[in-house]
Amino acid sequence: MCGIVGYVGDKESAPILVSGLKKLEYRGYDSAGVAVVSGKQLNVVRAMGKLKNLENRVGQDLPQGTTGIGHTRWATHGRPSDENAHPHTYKNVAVVHNGIIENHLALKEQLRARGHVFSSETDTEVFAHLISEAQEQGKDLPDAVRAAIAQVKGTYALAVVSSADPHRLVCTKNASPMVLGLGEGQNFVASDVPAVLEHTRDFVYMEEGDLAIVSATGVEIFNRQGQKANRSTKRIDWTPMMAEKGGHKHFMHKEIWEQPRAIADTLRGRMLLTEGDVHFEGWNLTPEKVRSLTKVTILACGTSWHSGVAGKHMIESLARLPVEVELASEFRYRDPIVDSTHLAIAISQSGETADTLAAFKEAKGLGATAMAICNVMGSAMTREADISVLTNAGPEIGVASTKAFTTQLVMLYMLAVKLGRLRNTLTVKAAQEHLTHLAEIPKMVEDVLKCEPAVKKVAREFMTAQDFLFLGRGPMHPVALEGALKLKEISYIHAEGYAGGEMKHGPIALIDEKMPVVVIAPKQPHVAYEKIIGNIEEVRARGGKVIAIIDEDDAQAGTLADHVIRIPPASALLAPVVATIPLQLLAYHVAEMRGNDVDQPRNLAKSVTVE
Ligand code: M6R
Repeated sequence: MCGIVGYVGDKESAPILVSGLKKLEYRGYDSAGVAVVSGKQLNVVRAMGKLKNLENRVGQDLPQGTTGIGHTRWATHGRPSDENAHPHTYKNVAVVHNGIIENHLALKEQLRARGHVFSSETDTEVFAHLISEAQEQGKDLPDAVRAAIAQVKGTYALAVVSSADPHRLVCTKNASPMVLGLGEGQNFVASDVPAVLEHTRDFVYMEEGDLAIVSATGVEIFNRQGQKANRSTKRIDWTPMMAEKGGHKHFMHKEIWEQPRAIADTLRGRMLLTEGDVHFEGWNLTPEKVRSLTKVTILACGTSWHSGVAGKHMIESLARLPVEVELASEFRYRDPIVDSTHLAIAISQSGETADTLAAFKEAKGLGATAMAICNVMGSAMTREADISVLTNAGPEIGVASTKAFTTQLVMLYMLAVKLGRLRNTLTVKAAQEHLTHLAEIPKMVEDVLKCEPAVKKVAREFMTAQDFLFLGRGPMHPVALEGALKLKEISYIHAEGYAGGEMKHGPIALIDEKMPVVVIAPKQPHVAYEKIIGNIEEVRARGGKVIAIIDEDDAQAGTLADHVIRIPPASALLAPVVATIPLQLLAYHVAEMRGNDVDQPRNLAKSVTVE
C-alpha cells in the first residue's frame, strides 16, 4: 500500500504534492518522489527513506511546473532505494503506481527485446516504457495509457504525466483506490482523500476500470469500455484525522476491515492454479536443497509466533517436514540444535523485532538456510535472510497486529504447498485443490466481517469481565492464543488461550458463572470437533458462559452455547484465517467500549526493537 497524489492547476505543484504526501505517509514510508512538468521539461526528484528526505531535496531546488504527480512507497517489488522510488520515468513519461503487476517479468523481457533498458527493480517501471512506446506510435497520452493497461495483468492505481502533454494528467484504476478531488481552476488525484482534503471537500470515487483525464479546468471520466462515464461527486465532511483512518474510528478497525484486500494482495501473482504450484519472487532454493531439509525452525514473537504455530500444522501436513516453533526471545538463551539441513524461518510484521532478529542470526550462524516472512521489504530481517517472501498487508499502524497475522497465515499456506510440491508430498491435483481453497479466502473474510453486529452484542455483555478463556484444538489452538493476546493487549482484561484438551489439566478450576469462555469450534476433522463440543459441555456444566465460533450450518453447537458467532466453513488448515476475524472484532469492541486507547495501548510499542 503506497500513497499517490497528483495536481493540475495554476500553482507550483511540487509543494502541494509534498504536503499531500505528508498526509499519506502512514501508507508507506520507505521512499518518496515527485515528477513535475513544465513545458517540455519533466523534472523528477526522489529520495529513499522518510518523506523528510524528499522535502529537503525539493526545498533545496524546487522543481518548477504546475502539473505533477507524487508518491510515497511501501516496497513490494524491489528494495527501498532512490532508483526504486516512484515516479518511474522513461523518455518523456513519468508514472506513479499502487498495486502489483503480475506479468511484469514477461513484459520486461518483451520490452528488453525491443531495446528498452530498465533503471529500477520495480514492476511499475514497465508502465512508463509501455506508455512511452505507445506515444511514439502516435497515440496521445490517454490512448497511450489505455494501450499500456491493455497489456498489463494485475492491480493498479496509476497516475501519469508526460512532457508531451504538459497540461493534463491521466489516471486509471483497477482494484486499488483512486479519487479525484475537484477544485476551482485546479484539480487533484489521490489514492486517499486525506492527501488533498485541505484543498477540496468534493470528491469523485473512480470505479474499477475507469480512466480520468484531469486538467486545471475539469475532469473527464471514461469507463472500461472507453465510453464517457458520469460519476457522482461526494462532499466529504471528515476531519483530517478521520480521513486518515478512512472514516473508521481507529486504525485497528480500518486494518481489520482491510483484510480481504490485504490477503488478496498477498496471494496475487503467486498462486499458479494451472500448474498446481506457487511462485515466490527471488525463490532460490533448488528442489535438491528442499528435499535435503530435515527440519523447519520457525522463530517469532507475539502474534507472529501464533501464525508460526498455525504454520506448523500447514507445513507438517502438506510437506511432511517436521516443524519446531520457537519463541525467538528464548531461542538463543539455550543450546539450540540447528544445522545446515534446517530451514530457519523468521516471521515478523516489522522485520525489526530485536528478539526475532537475534534468533534468526543465531540460526543462520549455525548453518541453517534463513528465510524471512515479513511485511516490510528492506527491514533488518529481509537483509539478513537468504530468501525473503513478503506479505503484502501494507503498513500496519495499530499496535495490535491484525492484517499482518492473517496475511502471514496465507503466506505460510502457500509456502506449505510449495514445499509439498518440491518434496513430492503433494500431487499437482492435490496442490490445485489447496490453492482453490486458498483463492476462496478473501471472499470468506469479506463475508465473516458481517458478523460484527453479533460480536458487538457479545462485547457489550462481557466488557466488564475480569477474565476470559479462549479454547481451540488443532489448528484452532493458535487462534485461541491469538484471540486471548488481542483481548488482553488492548482491553487490559486478563485472558488465556488454551488447547481444548488441556482445560481439564488446570484451567477448569477457574470456571464459574463469571467466566466467559470463547470456544473456537469450526466443524473440521483436524479440530477434533466432537472433543471441542465436549469442552463446551464441561464449561456449561460449571456455569461458565460459552461464546462459540462455529460454522454457518452447525446446528449442534448452536444449541449448546450462550452466544454463537457463525463463520463461513473453510478447509481445516485455512479455517484459522476466517475464525480469527471475530476475535479481532471482539477485542476491538471490548476495548473501545471500555474507552481505551485502541491504537496505542499502554506499555506497548508497535515494533519491539529492544530485548
Ligand atoms: O513485528 P513483529 O511481527 O516481529 O512483532 C512481534 C510482536 O511484537 C507483535 O506481534 C506483538 O505481539 C503485537 N502487539 C501483537 O498484536
